[in-house]
Amino acid sequence: MIVCLCHPFSDKKVKDHLDGKGGCSSVSETYSACSGGEKPNCCQCLETLKDIVQTHNRAQKAVSV
Ligand code: FES
Repeated sequence: MIVCLCHPFSDKKVKDHLDGKGGCSSVSETYSACSGGEKPNCCQCLETLKDIVQTHNRAQKAVSV
């Protein structure tokens, strides 16, 4: 699934970034990593990206407890 159309990247790229990073991540850091350092343009993808990042971060916290 394509997450961002302005600087196209997929949910797989987001998950690969989060898995590769290991710990928790922020939405802005994840966006920058997946877009090649770009900033969001229209911002329509940020809610979807936030959901993916929050799900990842919750899973990380569950593992570390
Ligand atoms: S769709 Fe991601 S910034 Fe526009």
